[in-house]
Amino acid sequence: MQTIRQLDLLRAGTAEFRAEGARIALVPTMGALHAGHMALIEAAKRPGTRVVASIFVNPKQFGPGEDLARYPRKEQADTRMLANAGCDLLWMPPVEVMYPEGFATNISVAGVSEGLDGAARPGHFDGVSTVVAKLFNQVRPDIAYFGEKDFQQLAVIRRMVADLDFGIEIAGVPTQREDDGLALSSRNIYLAEDERARAVALPRALGVAARDIGKSGDVDAALAAARASLIAAGFEIDYVTLVDAETLSEQTDPARPRRLLAAARMGSTRLIDNIAVDVPNQG
Ligand code: PAJ
Repeated sequence: MQTIRQLDLLRAGTAEFRAEGARIALVPTMGALHAGHMALIEAAKRPGTRVVASIFVNPKQFGPGEDLARYPRKEQADTRMLANAGCDLLWMPPVEVMYPEGFATNISVAGVSEGLDGAARPGHFDGVSTVVAKLFNQVRPDIAYFGEKDFQQLAVIRRMVADLDFGIEIAGVPTQREDDGLALSSRNIYLAEDERARAVALPRALGVAARDIGKSGDVDAALAAARASLIAAGFEIDYVTLVDAETLSEQTDPARPRRLLAAARMGSTRLIDNIAVDVPNQG
């Protein structure tokens, strides 16, 4: 696996893949890789495909009070994991290559990025959209892989790719979880031992609520029960809500795919999770 930090070398690397006739798959990350990220790499490995992973801790998607300075950085371990997994190229640009002096462009996807995490983290999705658009233009992949773990991010990227005619296929990969159900996240390391034990309430509450909504159709009761069990576990809730899986609108139609999304803080650690909701029984 080649590790590349300069744009001209990246272009040469991807040109070689193209010359072989390979398709190029991109897996964007911020590093501190875990089995959730590696599931994206596994999904990207297809015959005739070269896999490019990127690691860039993107300052533009962190708010003023957020964890940019203490965000985990594990370059060596990440590089080893990617090489062992069969990744072909690691794109790891320094911040001055991504945002040279004078950089002035912002990509803002309206609608789908506005509620939920967009409301809780002003500017976050502009930062994500801007850096992902740059990564797409730098690597020019045929397909890019994103985790369903960050469900709103996936919806924002799909909207941006459609709106700006990127012509890149966007693949969503199911959330990878610990044995007890907690979604894998680079931020789980911030949890103290007792917080980690109580955090399992998040996937459990969502699982119960999704099942109850599918069975009874009583959305308000299911959401209230989910909120109560999160509070009982010591979470401070940002949101627990049922949305349309494509538009993320809270105006849902049981005949269309729906998704239950939640964000909640355990101590100073903000966790997010989501789950699909079955179409209700017809009697
Ligand atoms: P990061 O948090 O490093 O995540 C990189 C990718 O891994 C995202 O697509 C995310 O959804 C996916 N991922 C994380 N945990 C996962 C899990 N438990 N199961 C499945 N997939 C998981 O998301 C970002 O970085 C950034 O916002 C980025 C898109 C790279 C732009 O900076």
